[in-house]
Amino acid sequence: MEIWFYPSKEISRELKCAAKRAGICDDFDPQMRTADPRFGDFQSNGVLPLAKQKKANPRALAQALVDELKSGGAIDESLVKVSIAGPGFINFSLSPEFLNAWLEKFNSQAQLKDAAGKFYNGKKVIIDYPSPNTAKQMHVGHLRPMVIGEAIKRLLKFCGADIKTDNHIGDWGTNFGILIYGIKTQNYKLDPDNENSLEELEQMYKKGSALVKEDPKAADEARMELVKLQNGDAENVGLWNAINKVSTAAFERMYKRMSLTIDMTLGESYYRDKVARIYKELTETGLAEENQGALVVFHREHERFAKQPFIIRKSDGASNYASTDLATVLNRVENLGAEEIIYVTDGRQQDHFQQLFLTVEKWFKAKGYRMPLLRHVWFGTILGEDGKAIKTKSGEPIRLKALLDEAVARAKALVKEKNPDMDDAEADSVAETVGVAAVRYCDLAQNRTNDYVFSWEKLLSFDGNTAPYLLYAAARIHSIFRKIGAEIDGRFEGASTLETEQEIALARKLIALPSVFELTLSELRPHYLCTYLYELAGAFSTFYNANKVIVDDEGTKQRRLMLCARTLRVLETGLRLLGIEPLQKM
Ligand code: ARG
Repeated sequence: MEIWFYPSKEISRELKCAAKRAGICDDFDPQMRTADPRFGDFQSNGVLPLAKQKKANPRALAQALVDELKSGGAIDESLVKVSIAGPGFINFSLSPEFLNAWLEKFNSQAQLKDAAGKFYNGKKVIIDYPSPNTAKQMHVGHLRPMVIGEAIKRLLKFCGADIKTDNHIGDWGTNFGILIYGIKTQNYKLDPDNENSLEELEQMYKKGSALVKEDPKAADEARMELVKLQNGDAENVGLWNAINKVSTAAFERMYKRMSLTIDMTLGESYYRDKVARIYKELTETGLAEENQGALVVFHREHERFAKQPFIIRKSDGASNYASTDLATVLNRVENLGAEEIIYVTDGRQQDHFQQLFLTVEKWFKAKGYRMPLLRHVWFGTILGEDGKAIKTKSGEPIRLKALLDEAVARAKALVKEKNPDMDDAEADSVAETVGVAAVRYCDLAQNRTNDYVFSWEKLLSFDGNTAPYLLYAAARIHSIFRKIGAEIDGRFEGASTLETEQEIALARKLIALPSVFELTLSELRPHYLCTYLYELAGAFSTFYNANKVIVDDEGTKQRRLMLCARTLRVLETGLRLLGIEPLQKM
């Protein structure tokens, strides 16, 4: 029998086939659940509802199904035990031999990737993150789209998606009129090569918007600057380019530090000549209507939007966030071949995306365009200890760089405390990894739709569901192999069959990996993966404390070393998927 990567899935499939072959049901739903570990690994509950519907005896029906399953030959009973329990549940128990064979087969990150690749099977996906607005420094609000977006991207890629990041930066809009007006009135000389320019630009914007608020004449002038920019005025276009250059350079420093893998950046400005087609097609198809000078789309069948239309062209004729996003979907489908598009933004944009998705659905249907799967992956707010959105003492958003620098400084103190002998250069590099990972992991470990309270003590703790804990768990396994000079990706020849309760529990946790991938993918919630890694590290710790690895009996030693090696590879794979590069020493 084949050693399946995802046994419960394969057994479900076999059950479905058996039900059909035996003439029991053409479309049997096995309803696989994880079983009470005393009875097995998983349980099919599907016979009971079927028996009810057929007015048949459920136990007899279960027996007929199991007989067919066994005679079909897909299941070898020395590897998977099948039994009927209670009124007609079918229990499946993976034997220690199966667990051993699974661990032998899925022995490296490459093997796992190969097997996981079936989930997305080459599907073309575009993921939209972190998509910041230019001319602003990155602050703590940019953390979540970066880390959640990157984790989802890596996971989908690992699971076989042909995925590209499209960074939809906000580089076009009314604020550029105000910013250019601010620059000109302050006689500010923008130096694209100066690292402080972005901060200075923020000041220019503040000055500009203060003037605009006070004085209607200033507001007119700012609007004129915008019109000049939109009409291609050389001076303003030059300024705009310089602003973007400064922003991009600062963003790129941050992307690098956060290990982001951005494939393309088609900002809002990229679509400025592509919105005319949107107005035309949405009007032609009768979806858009004029409303107080603006062009809008109503989704009256949704109570929430009955009085709140989707504005796709402002009353002054300018395009906006919505028109740009409509043009973006079209471009991603027509020119980039997207079959699925994922948007990662905060929860306040839920209405925007709901209206966008509704509009696209109707518009694509009317035009006969291929409809992609559209998903909005939204997240909550990071709160300070006072329960309000996290801010500096003076009420400003916290700069992301300052936050990370503090995390690294705090991590360095911890690393030095744990390893007083580590030289300073190494401690710095370990601290950079641990500090950034701690901030990142603490975010990913939360269910993304919740708000969470930012706490230094919690995220840097070496106990609990944190990056330091997991990094340390992986580093500790590395040190086992270092100490005895054994190969991590060795073959563990002569390993005997798993025996102790802790060995079996750990092996079961390891082979749960595909189900965790499936769950994480279905909801695009990385915290499921975090919880799993934390539990895996716990199962390892229980095993390691109870079962000595370096023992005289060669078979025992080899199988325990194999468990160590596989745990390490799964932990490391998981951490990498979350955007964290594991350490060998810590
Ligand atoms: N720039 C936007 C913001 O900072 C996020 C853009 C998200 N992507 C999109 N296609 N709308 O809020």
